[in-house]
Formats: sequence, C-alpha cells, structure tokens
Amino acid sequence: MTFARLAGPTRAARVTLTVDGERLVARDGDTVASALLGAGRQAIRRSAVSGEPRAPYCQMGVCFECLVEIDGVADRQACLVPVRNGMVVTTGRGQG
Ligand code: FES
Repeated sequence: MTFARLAGPTRAARVTLTVDGERLVARDGDTVASALLGAGRQAIRRSAVSGEPRAPYCQMGVCFECLVEIDGVADRQACLVPVRNGMVVTTGRGQG
C-alpha cells in the first residue's frame, strides 16, 4: 500500500524536522507517522523477532507498529505525536 497526500491547497504551516539525519518538511497538524508516510517512508522500524520491516498500521495508538525515537526518547508512538519544528526522529529503533 502506498500513501500519498490528497491533492489540493492547504493553509497548514510548514514544519521542519530531521528524520534519520535528513530534513523533512511536514504540515502543522501532522503526526510523525503521517509525516513519514506522506514523505514516502513506509517501513519505519524492524521487528525485533523476525527482522521484517514494519510500518504504521492503526494510526490510533493501538498496534505499536510505529515506534520511533523522538528527541532522544525511545519507543514513542509516531501516530500519537504531532510534529513540531526542530524535532529529531530516528527510525528503526522501536521494540517489539
Ligand atoms: S500506528 Fe498503531 S500504534 Fe501507531
């Protein structure tokens, strides 16, 4: 499944964060997970058991497939955290 933003104008302000050392521009109001998916980043961590790539699934804090490090704090649920300017996100370090 591929995610893409809906076409059309938006008045949402731009928010700049750093993801795995690269600059990512998101929209104010995005969650970290929606910003990553909207930027084409789908697999954001690997399963600790199988090593398989995992992607955000439920988008509402239930599945824990979206765990990332945010501003040095590990295992944050990306689908529950809104983006903000200067945020630093590291993918691939979630547990589970
Ligand atoms: S996508 Fe399911 S908990 Fe975040």
